[in-house]
Amino acid sequence: MSLTAHLIYFSPTGTTKKTITSVAQGLGAKSVVHYDVTPSDSSNKTVLSDGIVIIGTPVYAGRVPELCLQRMQRITAKGLPCVLVALYGNREFEDALVELRDFATRQGFKVVAAGAFIGEHSYSTQERPIAAGRPNSEDLRLAEQFGQQVAAKVNSGDLNTPEIAGDVPYKVLVKLGGVAPETVREKCTLCGKCAEVCPTGVITVSERVVTEADHCIMCCACVKTCEVDARPFNHPRIEERRAMLLKNCSQPKTPEVFL
Ligand SMILES: Cc1cc2nc3c(=O)[nH]c(=O)nc-3n(C[C@H](O)[C@H](O)[C@H](O)COP(=O)(O)O)c2cc1C
Repeated sequence: MSLTAHLIYFSPTGTTKKTITSVAQGLGAKSVVHYDVTPSDSSNKTVLSDGIVIIGTPVYAGRVPELCLQRMQRITAKGLPCVLVALYGNREFEDALVELRDFATRQGFKVVAAGAFIGEHSYSTQERPIAAGRPNSEDLRLAEQFGQQVAAKVNSGDLNTPEIAGDVPYKVLVKLGGVAPETVREKCTLCGKCAEVCPTGVITVSERVVTEADHCIMCCACVKTCEVDARPFNHPRIEERRAMLLKNCSQPKTPEVFL
């Protein structure tokens, strides 16, 4: 495909970014431009006028994270073909893709395909693994294959929006935050990486690490970035969630695509 691929994504723990990069490879785009809206970003409004777009989001409680939509709002287009990708942690993606479809359409994109892929769950730990290591090589192969299928569809002149699994009205939005990962002072080296990767900027590091839990979105970017394992997220609410996921969502799911 002799087009530029624009990759727009929110990806605190990196699985969304990894997966859509493979989709872009499958598209065979001439060049790839990244719009990573994960960090707090004050970039100007952007109107995309050529190429093909991939929008990627993690699934939070069966929906698209509110912050992701807020940050993507500045990017619009006039009818560019667009592929949607939702990354979920092996539970369910529920209404995330239809919500993303409606959002992308309002932003001026023409949705031509969508896919739900699996990534390691944000709450996965070594002791309690949930979809650990995903996307794995097979997931990435399927993501690339999906990109090839999209390229074939667009090259044939078919820009129809497919039926996508999910319901409208969407699931009720779950309020995030109120609890946040903690810092183990004996392990912490005050390196500041947790603050750097936090999408909401709620972590400050001086002589100790302070986290403002009210505005934490529980994404676990800090947990997974900490090289010395000093950011556990073991609040009883999260432990309870882990136990439910281990009990009900241990059977690996396979990606699902809509073309
Ligand atoms: C607050 C929160 C809610 C989540 N809700 C779901 C969910 O409803 N279904 C699911 O399968 N995974 C869920 N996950 C897991 C993420 O969708 C999954 O880990 C995803 O791969 C993260 O994407 P990222 O690596 O790009 O940040 C949730 C994670 C968080 C932090």
